[in-house]
Amino acid sequence: METEIRTLFWDRDAVVLIDQRALPLEERHVRCTGYQEVIAAIRDLTVRGAPAIGVAAAMGIALGVRGLADLPSKALREAFDGICGEFSAARPTARNLFWAVERMRRCFDQTPPSEDIRKALIAEAIRIGEEDIAINRRIGQHGQALLPDGARILTHCNAGALATAGYGTALGVVRAAREAGKKIHVYVDETRPVLQGARLTAWELVREGIPCTLITDNMAGSLMQQGKVDAVLVGADRIAANGDTANKIGTYALAVLARAHGIPFYTAAPRSTIDAALPDGGAIPIEERNSAEVTGIGGVRTAPEGIAVWNPAFDVTPHPWIAAIITEAGVIRPPFREGIEQVLSSSSPASA
Ligand code: MRU
Repeated sequence: METEIRTLFWDRDAVVLIDQRALPLEERHVRCTGYQEVIAAIRDLTVRGAPAIGVAAAMGIALGVRGLADLPSKALREAFDGICGEFSAARPTARNLFWAVERMRRCFDQTPPSEDIRKALIAEAIRIGEEDIAINRRIGQHGQALLPDGARILTHCNAGALATAGYGTALGVVRAAREAGKKIHVYVDETRPVLQGARLTAWELVREGIPCTLITDNMAGSLMQQGKVDAVLVGADRIAANGDTANKIGTYALAVLARAHGIPFYTAAPRSTIDAALPDGGAIPIEERNSAEVTGIGGVRTAPEGIAVWNPAFDVTPHPWIAAIITEAGVIRPPFREGIEQVLSSSSPASA
């Protein structure tokens, strides 16, 4: 079986996305030929995971300028701004979305009028995707050094190839550890309500033959109590300047449990997930999603009609519960504020 997972790619004036709603039961791709289709795909989780959302938005913006390039410059600018604004409103929490929109805006601003703006934006979007894979490999290298041979890892949601342009952040660390010859076992949280763990992380690990065990979310504490977890390793959607980190709902509970059991809790994320403008996690916008995600599973209703629902998609882990943040520019240990400033000012290349 081909091992490379083609999460998303540019193909002849279209953005092609693996349909993450259909996995693991069906492996199919969705071809978006209009930018609004890409926005819809971000909203309905066809493509999800902070870095993948960023790359999809960049490619979507490039798609959006089709047919606009001949407009007078003022009208082109207005149309471009409108498209960027629509992408920014697709989902609120993942910093990488806004980072990618900003980068596409910079590309637009810096492309001289004599050049083909559409070509420049397509090239930039493809570059963002390629860089993401290289960044994840570097995160993997830094992170794998933290894992002893034989480590049993607990992960939550999907921070794998599917959540990025490829290789993954948290699962990139697992992949790099295995490439370094280490034996690793991954416990996979099911991750209610949308089951990114059971459907996506499990799919990635099983197809690559990486030893793994699926648990429901409420089993994590008992697993730790039995001494079966050596480290918790997750991705991130947004990291504030002090290290407070938003990630999939349920992550906070794991961090608290890990501390109670003396287990290190690691976050793996690219620098594009860091939002240095936010002083702490209290300022991170948390998306609330449709109640149907909670009142049923896979479209089958499990709760009675009329029940009230609370469905935040993310929670914030305060920085004191985090042992280290693994980035492409190195591993940040407390005190995080200083470490974050340092990696953000580091000239470490995106790819090497
Ligand atoms: O709602 P999702 O599936 O987009 O949430 C994804 C997560 O919470 C991931 O852990 C996070 O984006 C990191 S992905 C490398």
